[in-house]
Amino acid sequence: MKESPIEANDAAVADQPATLGTSRFVRACLRQPVDRTPVWLLRQAGRYMPEYMAVRKHHSLLEICRTPEIAAEVTITAAERLGVDAAIIFADLLLPFTPMGVDFEFLAGEGPVVHTPIRTLEQVRALRTDRVEELSYVAQAIERVARHFAAPRTDGDQLGIIGFCGAPFTLASYMIEGGSSRNYIETKRMMYSDREAWPLLMEKLIGVLTAYAAQQVQAGADVIQIFDSWAGALSVTDYREYCLAPTTELVRRIQALGVPVIYFGVDTASLLPTMRQTGADVIGLDWRIPLSEGWKALGETCAVQGNLDPITLFAPQNVLRARVHEVLDAAAGRPGHIFNLGHGIVPGTPVENVIQTVKWVQEHRAQ
Ligand code: CP3
Repeated sequence: MKESPIEANDAAVADQPATLGTSRFVRACLRQPVDRTPVWLLRQAGRYMPEYMAVRKHHSLLEICRTPEIAAEVTITAAERLGVDAAIIFADLLLPFTPMGVDFEFLAGEGPVVHTPIRTLEQVRALRTDRVEELSYVAQAIERVARHFAAPRTDGDQLGIIGFCGAPFTLASYMIEGGSSRNYIETKRMMYSDREAWPLLMEKLIGVLTAYAAQQVQAGADVIQIFDSWAGALSVTDYREYCLAPTTELVRRIQALGVPVIYFGVDTASLLPTMRQTGADVIGLDWRIPLSEGWKALGETCAVQGNLDPITLFAPQNVLRARVHEVLDAAAGRPGHIFNLGHGIVPGTPVENVIQTVKWVQEHRAQ
């Protein structure tokens, strides 16, 4: 088991922080001083990248996810091509559905489709929580990535390795709606009306996700990111009433594995103070809120990740550069900023702009 982030923080205050970790990405997650702002990008391995599309020509998305050699290769290629400070394991949010007994597939142009959506208490009761070891292919991919990046880079920094899972609400929404959704009617219907099914679904997801995260940490993940991509669909009241406690419990259990937790959602400006209450070490900001305002809403006792609009990557270089510096200036070199996008890179994004963005961040020294 790794040293707990809380102890690491205390030690940082008491001793010399400079000796604590060699990864500036992990140090920033713990709000320790760094020589420069670490950077990685949401969906850095994806369809915008020719190297990924070359692999995709021969394998489906799920084949890539379920074959550790290929998932590791895709992860490593993206991190090295961009020169980022952290690699996120190539996987998908929905992978835990299979051992839970929920069949799904990715349909071209439509995204994920769950063939029999979970809508009743009986269906929730039937969800399996005892087969998480079937997901060990993700841990095997992480082991390969960790081995590849075991040696420090030329600047002495250790590349951070990020494992991830979905948050209870966002995963439940895919299970209940049967795919992506606009209004989350069935999800909210269960949440509001079934006082047995919703809490049981949350409990089962927390159990499965904790075990899944534990496999990833065991395999070498330095940090776990929890994606609550669609939490922004909730009012503050509903988030508090139905999602805060399960998410807090998941954060707590993952931190108990000895790694910092990044908690990310989209359209979350009004939810930020409540998301902070989960106790996550880092909160991911989308681009709709200026970084300094978002950080203020969270309080200085947590780190932030973000928050360039991913579509800025289509802008001419002078505009893009100005926006990158706007984010860096808003963070003003305070410990605990990880540069990222406000959401994932979209297909069609010019690769050279992505690489240039990473360079600009890395050239910008903390004051
Ligand atoms: O570098 C990386 O970040 C790639 C690893 C990754 C994937 N999915 C691979 C993937 C990660 C971190 C995810 C997480 C994920 N999966 C999320 C949360 C992140 C977010 O965007 O908020 C969500 C909501 C999913 C579910 C999912 N997977 C959807 C809705 C889709 C379709 C999206 C689309 O644009 O078509 C996917 C497919 C998917 N997962 C792709 C990739 C690279 C693109 C499809 C492909 O390669 O065929």
